[in-house]
Amino acid sequence: MDRIELCRAKSFKGKFSPPPDKSISHRTVIFSCLSKGKSIIKNFLRAEDTISTVNAMRALGIEIQENIIPPTHPSPSRGEGKGGGGSSDHRPPTCELIINGRGLYGLKEPFDIIDCRNSGTTMRLLSGVLSGNSFFSVLTGDESLRQRPMSRVILPLRQMGAEIMAREEDKYPPVAIKGGRLRAINYSLPVASAQVKSAILLAGLYADGETEVIEPFRSRDHTERMLPAFGAEINVEGLHIKIKSSSELKGLEIYVPGDFSSAAFFIVGAMLIKDSEVTISDVGLNPTRTGLLSALKEMEADFDISNMRDVSGEPVADIYFKGGGDIKAIHITGEKIPALIDEFPVLCVAATQAEGITTIRGAEELRVKESDRIKAMAKELRKMGAEIEEFKDGLNIKGKVKLRGATVESHGDHRVAMALSIAALVADGTTTINGVSSVNISFPGFFDILKGLTKK
Ligand code: S3P
Repeated sequence: MDRIELCRAKSFKGKFSPPPDKSISHRTVIFSCLSKGKSIIKNFLRAEDTISTVNAMRALGIEIQENIIPPTHPSPSRGEGKGGGGSSDHRPPTCELIINGRGLYGLKEPFDIIDCRNSGTTMRLLSGVLSGNSFFSVLTGDESLRQRPMSRVILPLRQMGAEIMAREEDKYPPVAIKGGRLRAINYSLPVASAQVKSAILLAGLYADGETEVIEPFRSRDHTERMLPAFGAEINVEGLHIKIKSSSELKGLEIYVPGDFSSAAFFIVGAMLIKDSEVTISDVGLNPTRTGLLSALKEMEADFDISNMRDVSGEPVADIYFKGGGDIKAIHITGEKIPALIDEFPVLCVAATQAEGITTIRGAEELRVKESDRIKAMAKELRKMGAEIEEFKDGLNIKGKVKLRGATVESHGDHRVAMALSIAALVADGTTTINGVSSVNISFPGFFDILKGLTKK
């Protein structure tokens, strides 16, 4: 049965490392496939979304080997230091990919349509790549992805010279592409989107001249950080990102840091559940991703960041959370949204426990994610007793309310399923969450870690 029953937790104690970063994992595969020679990707996220990217690249003729690496030794930090006695040090097997890239022009015309399943990142980034390749390809996805907006990538890629079209006058997938020689453009993004930015930058590798993308607000910058390591020439000045046409990228060895967006569920869990002490190690803290931490600081949550270091050009650290203190409501406006875009569902759960009215505005992008996350979170948290007012571009959430167990739906959305699981741990009674297999999109093993940390 695709459902789980969860009850109130007394405390949340232990330490763990989050799974590898999803956004970074997608990019390592695509960039390696476009490079000449061998790339080794260590700590690759083996989840449904990133496997969609691996399968897509295989369909484009690239050989990708997956090695599953079992944990060889217990974590040196087990049972030491902060984190509640180390009773829950979860170390699942990791995955290493070996990719024999064939260069920017080494992809082959796919024999069939490419199914990106639930993954918007796969579809949007590949639209950019395929626009620079002079063969015919079609990208489709599951029912959710086939309702997500594509004109945002189609318009700039067409301006660059690609023949590209989609269903319902270019609005929705499937997307059909006949790529070729591209010309550089100067493009102001109407929405802050790392997927659209990355699609244009990848197409820029194939364009004559220098392509420029201008963002309204800074979105995650993994592409800009990682592509230069493969040999691309990228220049970032404020919100302006320029990329030069490239003749060749070169394969490399790269390690994927832990995913802040996956850690976020346990961060909020630790903050809301009394007597909690959780240490999350090896978590990526790229500032374009950590808006949730700034929001929690403003709410007066208690946490420490230590052991800050650089892994593959990304900031990584350990976070220690002590929970159960009082938190207060905050106001979140549009410019803050990109840095916490994927943390919105779990932030809504936090807001139900904060004193006062938390307001979130300028978040209309949340309506076109894997589900309409504004509607999904308002509807499901209300079933648990939350007081929420819905607006076109956000929510007002009144706290602090006593949540109660209910039967709730994931809407087929991994982050809604995981956020509701955290709500269940602070609710009275039993909560049944339907559609929880969706967690495999980004976080296989989520419920094992949840159970390991939960003290009843
Ligand atoms: C992503 C960018 C964001 C984010 C998504 C992953 C990426 O989407 O929500 O989960 O890897 O570039 P948008 O670009 O649509 O904001």
